[in-house]
Amino acid sequence: MKPILKYKNKMSRVLFIALITMTFFSCKSNHKKYTIGVSQCSVDIWREKLIDELTLSSYAYGNIELKVVSSKDDDRLQMQQINQLMSEGIDLLIVSPNQINTISSVVDSVYDSGIPVILFDRKTNSDKYTAFMGADNYGIGKVMGEYAASSMKGQGRIVEIMGLSGSSPAIERQRGFDDIVKKFPNIEIVAARNGDWTEKSGEEVMEEILKEGVSFNCVFAHNDRMANGARTSIKKKGLRDSIMYIGIDALSNDGGGMQKVMNGELTATYIYPTRGDLLMQLAVNILNGKPFQRDNYLKTSIVTDENVEALLMQADEMKYQRSRILDLQGKINQYLAQYSHQQVYAFLAGIIILLSLIYLITAYRNAVKKRMLMEESFNSKLNFFTNISHELRTPLTLIGDPVEDMIDDENLTVKQRNVLQIVRRNVNILMRLVNEILDFRKIQSGKMTMTLSDFDLDTYMRQWITVFEASAEKKKVKLNLDVDDKLSVRADVYKVERICYNLLSNAIKYTKEGGTVNFSAHKEGENYRIQVADTGVGIPKGELPQIFDKFFQAEKHTHGGTGLGLAIVKAFVELHKGKVEVESEEGKGTTFTVTMPLIAIGDNVVVAPDARTETEETAETSSASELSTKVIVDNMTAADNSEKMSILIVDDNIDIRAYIMAIAGEYYNVSQAENGEKGLSMAFKEVPDLIICDIMMPGIDGLEFCKKIKEDMITCHIPVILLTARTLDEQRAEGYESGADAYITKPFNSKVLLVRIKNLIDNRKRLKYVYSNTEKPVEEPSDNDAAFLANFKKIINKHLADSEFNVETASAEMGLSRVQLYRKVKALTGSTPVEIIKITRLKQAEVMLRTSEKTVAEVAYLVGFSSPSYFSKCYKEYFGKLPGAAHK
Ligand code: FRU
Repeated sequence: MKPILKYKNKMSRVLFIALITMTFFSCKSNHKKYTIGVSQCSVDIWREKLIDELTLSSYAYGNIELKVVSSKDDDRLQMQQINQLMSEGIDLLIVSPNQINTISSVVDSVYDSGIPVILFDRKTNSDKYTAFMGADNYGIGKVMGEYAASSMKGQGRIVEIMGLSGSSPAIERQRGFDDIVKKFPNIEIVAARNGDWTEKSGEEVMEEILKEGVSFNCVFAHNDRMANGARTSIKKKGLRDSIMYIGIDALSNDGGGMQKVMNGELTATYIYPTRGDLLMQLAVNILNGKPFQRDNYLKTSIVTDENVEALLMQADEMKYQRSRILDLQGKINQYLAQYSHQQVYAFLAGIIILLSLIYLITAYRNAVKKRMLMEESFNSKLNFFTNISHELRTPLTLIGDPVEDMIDDENLTVKQRNVLQIVRRNVNILMRLVNEILDFRKIQSGKMTMTLSDFDLDTYMRQWITVFEASAEKKKVKLNLDVDDKLSVRADVYKVERICYNLLSNAIKYTKEGGTVNFSAHKEGENYRIQVADTGVGIPKGELPQIFDKFFQAEKHTHGGTGLGLAIVKAFVELHKGKVEVESEEGKGTTFTVTMPLIAIGDNVVVAPDARTETEETAETSSASELSTKVIVDNMTAADNSEKMSILIVDDNIDIRAYIMAIAGEYYNVSQAENGEKGLSMAFKEVPDLIICDIMMPGIDGLEFCKKIKEDMITCHIPVILLTARTLDEQRAEGYESGADAYITKPFNSKVLLVRIKNLIDNRKRLKYVYSNTEKPVEEPSDNDAAFLANFKKIINKHLADSEFNVETASAEMGLSRVQLYRKVKALTGSTPVEIIKITRLKQAEVMLRTSEKTVAEVAYLVGFSSPSYFSKCYKEYFGKLPGAAHK
C-alpha cells in the first residue's frame, strides 16, 4: 500500500471512530424519547388551547415529542391521519374521535397493536382504550338543564342545538339535559337539531328553526360557538332579544364564552376543561409504566353573570402565568438550543482539534522519520566514505608525492611532464574529496577543532587565487582579487583556505566563458568580509534556503564532488563565530559573503605549544614547493658536514617506511620498525637523532610511543615527528601533550618532510653547540636532559684522576650501553663522551695550573692523563697554547 493511501485510510478510520463515539455519547446523554401522536377531530380555539397546554407540559419532561394532526371534522381524514401516525411510529396515541362509530375501528386497531390509547374529550363505541380523560358531558348536560329550568322558573320553551351527530359529547350532553328538562312539565324542548360544533352550523340551524316559525325563549347549544351562531341568526331576523342563550366551553379568550357571559351575549356557559397538563401527565405515566386511573373525569363549573367576573380574573391571571411560563420556556429552549449548539460546536471543535493534533503529530513523526532515514542513510554513506577515505590516504601519498618529485626532474620530456601534471591534478582532486569527507565526518561528530594563528589574510589570498588561475584562464573566466593590504587576522588558516577554495572552485565551475569571478576581502569594524562573486548561472530562488544543507547538497548538487562543499564552508565559518550569506539571481550570478571576526575565539581551539602552527607548516609547504629536493639536500649537507644523522621510522605500513627510506636514505641513516613495541626497543638501543612515527598503529600507537620516548632519560631528547591525518586535530592536541615535536599530515609531501627533519635536527644542533661551549643554551634542555648531563658530569668529576676511567666505565656507572651513552651525549652536546671526558680533564687541568704550584706532569696525572706528553698535546689542541703557559 502506498504510504499516502495508508495515511488517508488511517485518517478516515479515526474520523469514523470519532463519529461513532459522538453518536454513542449523544445517545447516551439523553434518556429514552417518546413520540406521542395527537389526533384532533377539529381545528378551533378550544383545541388550540389544548394543544398549547400539551406542548407546554411536554417541555417539562424533555423526552416527549408530540405529533399533532387535525382532521377538520372529517372522519375519513382522521382515520387516515391515525394510520399515518402509526406507520411513522408512535409510542402512544391521544385521540378525540370525531364520531363514535366511524373512528372506533381505527382506534381499536391502534390499541390492538399494543400502543396505548388515551381517549380525550370524545369517546369511541369500544372498550379498547387505555385511558379516558374528559369532562362528564352527561353531567354537564344535566347542570345546564337544571340551570335552564331554574332560570325559566320551571316554564319555558327551549331550542336545543346539539353537537355533531354521532359524537359522544353531543350524545351525552343531550341525554343529561333531557333527563333534567323532562322533569319539568312546563318546560318543553321545542326543537332539537344537530349542528357540527361550528358557529356557522349554529346560525344555520337557528335559521331553519326560525323559518319554521317556532317560538322559544331559551337556546341551549352544546357549545358557545353554536350558541353565538344561533344568536346571530336571531338578531339578523330583528327579533327581540329576551331569549336565554346557554352554551358550553366558557373559553376565556377574546370573544370566548366567558366574555360573552360578561357582556350578556350568553346567559350561561360551562367550563369545558382542556387540561392539557393533566392529559400529558396521564400519558407519561402510561409510557413510564406508572400507575394511572383509567377513566378520568374532569370537574369544572358553570359560568353565569354571578361568577364570571371572578373566573375571568382567574383566567386572566392564568393567562398571565401561562404567558410567563411560555416566555420562560422559550428562553429555556433558546438556552437549550444554544447549549446544545455549543455542545455540538464544542464537540466538533474537540474532534477537529483532535484530528488536527493527530494530523500534526503524524506529519511531524513522518517528517522526523524521513529526516532520520535521510540522516541514517547519509551517515551510513558517510561512514562508508570515511573508511574508504582513510584507506585512500596512504596510497595517495605514495602516488602523489613521487609524482611531485618527478615533475621537478629537469630531464623530463614535455609529454612526460604533461602526463605527470594530469596525474598530479587528479591526485589533488582525490585528496580534496578525501579531506572533504573526513572534515565533514568531524563536523558531524562535533570533533572539529580550530588551530588559531595570526597571519596576513592578503598574503594567503594572493597565494590561494593562483591555484585557480589556470582553470579560470582555460574557461576564459576573469579572476579579480581585491583585498586590503596587511589584513591581519587571527583564524584557522587551513579552514579559511578551505572556505575560499570551496567558494572559488564553485564560482569558477558555474561561471560560463567570458564571465567574471571577484575574490575580495575587506576589514569592516571588528570583522572582515570575504566575498566571492560570480556572474554565473545563479541559483534558483527556491533552492537558496537549502543551499548549505548537507542533505540537499548531497542529493542534488554533487556535480562529481561530495556535494558537501558548502555545508563545510558554513560549518567552518560558524566555528569562527562568523556567518555566511548567499545572494543569487538566476542567469545573473551568485555572491557568497563570509563575515568573520578579525580575532577568532573558538570553542574548540588547539594551540600548538611551540607556536608552531599550521601557518608555519603551510609556509614550509610553500617554501618546500619552491625548492627542489636537491636544493634542500644541498642546504642540509652544507649545514652539516659531519657523519650522517640517524632516523628511526616507526610505521605499520611497509610502503610508507620504504618511501621515507627512499627519500631520506640518501641523507640520513634510516632504520625502521613496523610497530610501536619494536620501535621503542630500537629507539632505546640506537638512540636515533630523530624518530618519525605513525599515529594509527596496532598495539602501542604513535601517541603512547611518543610519550614513552619523552619519558625515558635516554630517549627524551629525540625529536619525534608524528605522521597523522590532517583532519584529526584532536589527535594533534593529544600529540603535543604527548611531547611530539612536529606533525606531518598524510598524504604528505616529501619536501615538507625533509625540511621538517632538517629544521628539527638543526634546532637540536644549536642547543648542543651552545652547550658544548658551556654558555647559556638558546633552548633550555628538558629536566630529563639537564639531569642526565649533570649526572654525567658528576661521574666524570668523580673519576677525574683515574686514568682508567673511560666511556665504558662511565656508561656502566650510568646504567647505559656504550652506544646509548655515546648517542645521548653526542645528541645533547654535539661532542662524544670521550671528547667530553677529555675536555673536562683539560679544563680542570687549566684551573689547577692557574691556581696551584703543581707541575705540568703532576697536573696531568691528577686529571687522569697517563702520559704528560699526550696531556700537553691535547692541551695545546684545545687551548691553543702549551700547559706551561698557564703557570703564573
Ligand atoms: C371543540 C368542541 C368544543 C366542544 C367539544 C366537544 O372542538 O367542539 O366546542 O365542547 O369539542 O367535543
